[in-house]
Amino acid sequence: MSKKKAAKPAAKKSAATPVKKTQKAVASKPVKAADAAGGNKSRMTENRLFKPSAEFSGKARISSMSQYKKMHEESLKNPDKFFGREAKELHWTKPFTKVLDWKCPSAKWFTGGKLNVSENCLDRHLQGPRKTKAALIWEGEPGEKRVLTYQQLHREVCRFANVLKRHKVKKGDRVVIYLPMIPEAAIAMLACTRIGAIHNVIFGGFSAESIKDRVLDSGAKIIITADGGYRRGAVVPLKKNVDDALKAKDTPVETVIVYKRTGQEVHIEEGRDVWWSRELEYVDAHCPPVTMDSESPLFILYTSGSTGKPKGILHTTGGYLLHAQMTCKYVFDLRDEDVYWCTADVGWVTGHSYLVYGPLAVGATSLMFEGAPNWPENDRFWKIIEEYAVTVFYTAPTAIRAFMKWGDEWLQKHDLSSLRLLGTVGEPINPEAWMWYHTKVGGGRCPIVDTWWQTETGGHMITPLPGATPTKPGTATLPFFGVDVAIVDDLGKEVGTDEQGKLVIRKPWPSMLRGIWGDKARYQDTYWSEFKGWYFAGDGARRDKDGYIWIIGRIDDVLNVAGHRLGTAEVESALVSHPAVAEAAVVGRPDEMKGQGVVCFVTVKEGVKTGRELADELKKHVRKVIGPVATPDEVRFAVALPKTRSGKIMRRLLKQIAAGEIIKGDTTTLEDINVIAQLVASGEN
Ligand code: WTA
Repeated sequence: MSKKKAAKPAAKKSAATPVKKTQKAVASKPVKAADAAGGNKSRMTENRLFKPSAEFSGKARISSMSQYKKMHEESLKNPDKFFGREAKELHWTKPFTKVLDWKCPSAKWFTGGKLNVSENCLDRHLQGPRKTKAALIWEGEPGEKRVLTYQQLHREVCRFANVLKRHKVKKGDRVVIYLPMIPEAAIAMLACTRIGAIHNVIFGGFSAESIKDRVLDSGAKIIITADGGYRRGAVVPLKKNVDDALKAKDTPVETVIVYKRTGQEVHIEEGRDVWWSRELEYVDAHCPPVTMDSESPLFILYTSGSTGKPKGILHTTGGYLLHAQMTCKYVFDLRDEDVYWCTADVGWVTGHSYLVYGPLAVGATSLMFEGAPNWPENDRFWKIIEEYAVTVFYTAPTAIRAFMKWGDEWLQKHDLSSLRLLGTVGEPINPEAWMWYHTKVGGGRCPIVDTWWQTETGGHMITPLPGATPTKPGTATLPFFGVDVAIVDDLGKEVGTDEQGKLVIRKPWPSMLRGIWGDKARYQDTYWSEFKGWYFAGDGARRDKDGYIWIIGRIDDVLNVAGHRLGTAEVESALVSHPAVAEAAVVGRPDEMKGQGVVCFVTVKEGVKTGRELADELKKHVRKVIGPVATPDEVRFAVALPKTRSGKIMRRLLKQIAAGEIIKGDTTTLEDINVIAQLVASGEN
């Protein structure tokens, strides 16, 4: 669940922030995590332990810690054997000859093997009783309901794949998908995989400008969109955003396929735009899957980094699918009889791996909901859980905190006894929210899997296994199979118990990213150069006395706002593209609900009048440039930004000011100490 926009190049105007790869928030000398984590204090003292019930463990695939430890050890010591065995559960058109070929930072998994993702997610389930079971259950925001069985979903995917072929989409072509949360989003993704096209899904909360940047960067020649989507009763003008994005002169896009969702009038460009439903009239439902190499690109998904331009994270076929399948099997312990609901949008990686590919690979029933948790009322999610008898529920801590705020009465109106397992993802969960989730939603009987992972990792990396791992509120606990985690200082030395350090992964894993689209150097530089040969995740963490890993959060210039990733440099770049702005620096501040809020420090050009009006205008401007996901919480005007004598913005100070903390630490390198007093007084209110 994350978000970012392709940063508008900050032409001529210098985006104020000198962008460096990681802030050295983690000192070479390890610090006690409580100090560094600030508001995380309750996570420091948390030590309650929740063991899985004998009933849950008895049925689970991994039912004890000794089984987990044995398998984890084997997965690290003998990955060829471990993953070679696991991979046999996929359907290979041609078997692989080698499990792993690793030459840092290039990993090749299951070389020689050939397979097709849509065949694994659909065709192979058509032989037995799954043929007529629900693959997707969908509810629209206005309340419409649709169920697609495996057989029906297969048919729709084949038909739409033929539509793509009709429009000359071939293996390796990039296809942008900008759709609301409707079954057609999954159909379009699977149709791409059927013919070997590489999809690039863009979250509906991104602007025209963000679409434009992603289209240009990925070189997509086709966009699949809808007239609009519903969000809290309003219509999001998706097609209009696409039209605006395509005004760019150099756009590679030749065709736009439009699905009619909301029915409002939209512009149709002759010779470019076609209607989804009309196109289906020209095709049949026969479309054999194209055989792909295990390492063929599967999709690109843009995500924020510390520098201005979002990165097109590239995932490939065999390893990604295996990890998605394995985690659905071991972490969600999915069964044929489960009704599984992941609330993430398909525009984020969670929607890719845990709404579409993973659940369908294991033949589960996946529920998709188009709307917001509080529309038309605060109990919409609980209503859905009751109505469809959801058994496994996966959502974000931000949502849980919102439910807590809205009050228990909303869930008390509903029967949630169908639930057997709960999950969270996207940001650290505070123990209070964890306990509420456990007692109020899970009725004290459902294990919670707090899953740490990233767009880049493709699937869960640190997570409890629900039938084995005793959980503690606030920790993602232990690494998944094949994941070799270490927490290290700046020199790569492991830090001690309860000391904060940088989270690294020391071995390749099947679903790791294979690159950044079109930028080999950036791939190497961003992930593999901080510590030679290890993947640096950008997160800070600590390990407690039981070996459990507590994620502290990002230690680079990436914010996590309501579980959405946002680069400070992207917001800065958007701000300086406004004619009134001279310089901008953006930092996060702790936010009880969203995890982090976005605070912008702005200096304006000579003669520009500052005040509430301009602050509101700048907020709107950022929304327009990046999308609603990036809306700043606060804009503060400054006479100058605090800089070192060599001209670097001192973000550490800005973070403290934004959080309302008294300035701590060394300010002797500051060029002009008076700047600080002015900044502290610059609050919006
Ligand atoms: C954060 C989302 C703590 C983390 C799947 C990571 C988490 C970033 C957790 C990736 C968790 C994700 N506990 N923090 N369980 N899960 N994060 O790429 O900072 O949108 O680096 O992937 O979210 O965000 P992304």
